Amino acid sequence: MAALELPAAAAWPPQPLMTERLIVRAAQASDRAGCIDLLTSRQARRFLGGPLPLAEAEKACAGPYGRSPGSFVVSAAESGDFVGMIGLDRRDAGRPGHLAPDGLELELSYVLSPAHWRMGYAAEAVAAVLQWAAQALPDPQVVACTQTANTASAALLRRLRFDDTGQRFLEFDAEQSLWVRSLLPGRSLTALTLSP
Ligand SMILES: CC(C)(COP(=O)(O)OP(=O)(O)OC[C@H]1O[C@@H](n2cnc3c(N)ncnc32)[C@H](O)[C@@H]1OP(=O)(O)O)[C@@H](O)C(=O)NCCC(=O)NCCS
Repeated sequence: MAALELPAAAAWPPQPLMTERLIVRAAQASDRAGCIDLLTSRQARRFLGGPLPLAEAEKACAGPYGRSPGSFVVSAAESGDFVGMIGLDRRDAGRPGHLAPDGLELELSYVLSPAHWRMGYAAEAVAAVLQWAAQALPDPQVVACTQTANTASAALLRRLRFDDTGQRFLEFDAEQSLWVRSLLPGRSLTALTLSP
């Protein structure tokens, strides 16, 4: 993944994005335990190459995570509980799965802690991030890759009105699919923030 560079007019960290039930914001030190739990979770990492060893997760959660533009944390508005993480990055040209040979497409990733699955949280939080991206970034579209076996992720992308490009390729020893969604004003993101 290549780092996301923001145009001069866009600030990081951004103002927290408030949705009906969630706060989507840059990571802070108090997110560390939630981050480590998520990266070491067998369930959450099932389609993401498996759980990280604890030492690796601790390292990943101690570093610049969240201070790099595009790395969001989701927390519950009422309780403040850690809910998950959403990332925007650039997809390196050397990896398979692209819209154009030069690559570096804006790429979305997401992982929520299993205790918060199937409550519409991912749709609510990702919609807010896409709205932020549509305003802060020059990209006309965003891509997402998911294992074809990951039905929850594919359902989320469909719900968020991503289109399956039909591209299939092998990466991380599994078949992946490439999805794309416009960030242009014609496709309303506002409606997506409604809870189910
Ligand atoms: C994928 C993931 C983020 C979905 O989070 P979520 O909060 O449960 O999703 P939502 O509740 O917002 O649901 C979004 C849509 O997905 C559907 N969905 C969610 N989990 C599902 C499942 N296990 N099976 C089938 N559909 C599922 C919902 O029904 C909803 O679709 P609908 O509007 O048609 O009903 C979550 O399962 C997760 O974190 N998984 C592990 C990380 C991962 O695999 N990330 C993919 C990286 S590319």
